[in-house]
Amino acid sequence: MTFSIVVPQIVLSNITMRPLELADSHQMFDYASDPEVTRHVTWETHHTEDDSLIFLRDIIHGYERGDTFVWGIIWNDTNALVGTIALHHWSPKDQVAELGYALGRRYWGNGIATMAAGAILDFGFSSLNLNRIYALCHIQNARSARVLEKIGMQKEGELREYYKVKGDLWTVWIYAILARDWNVRLLNSKLSL
Ligand SMILES: CC(C)(COP(=O)(O)OP(=O)(O)OC[C@H]1O[C@@H](n2cnc3c(N)ncnc32)[C@H](O)[C@@H]1OP(=O)(O)O)[C@@H](O)C(=O)NCCC(=O)NCCS
Repeated sequence: MTFSIVVPQIVLSNITMRPLELADSHQMFDYASDPEVTRHVTWETHHTEDDSLIFLRDIIHGYERGDTFVWGIIWNDTNALVGTIALHHWSPKDQVAELGYALGRRYWGNGIATMAAGAILDFGFSSLNLNRIYALCHIQNARSARVLEKIGMQKEGELREYYKVKGDLWTVWIYAILARDWNVRLLNSKLSL
């Protein structure tokens, strides 16, 4: 199946989300080689810059197919690539996709993930016509769980030993938000302005 929606650039006050390029490999390697960053993501720690190049090549092939929604997150002040955010496993039939993200450690704690994730939810509901966006979060990843709560996702439950990642069976929390919940949040934020 082919799709025609391209990955748009999304500009916010502090960050910009844009499609990734091969030229991002050096900055990606900087954070993707940090085991603290990759501890709770499903992809392997990058050991060489070539790992980052291969990772980027896969994403760029996905852009060409039109079925991959992965953005680089850029810190506007410095133009640095600080991480990535994505909608994976998009099913147009079921109108559902999975949110995922990772940031370089030095950028944690500044609200970047919350800002970026809010913008990506908006894109998913308005441009991909999604009805549901979910996220799977390792039960020890309290920081990410907090981000998911802050963007209005509800914890729907715990999936015991849901999948095997890097040799271990992971128990994860499933969080989700529906389009109608998102629209209520948008309305409430406009009313409180
Ligand atoms: C998860 C991650 C993206 C969060 O990014 P971030 O930009 O630091 O997130 P934010 O600053 O928007 O929000 C973090 C929230 O977690 C809270 N927090 C920080 N450390 C925490 C901890 N140990 N336990 C609980 N909450 C914590 C912060 O206080 C903040 O909440 P607040 O605004 O209510 O104070 C980042 O830590 C990361 O890239 N981790 C590695 C990759 C990863 O785990 N990805 C998610 C896979 S599901």
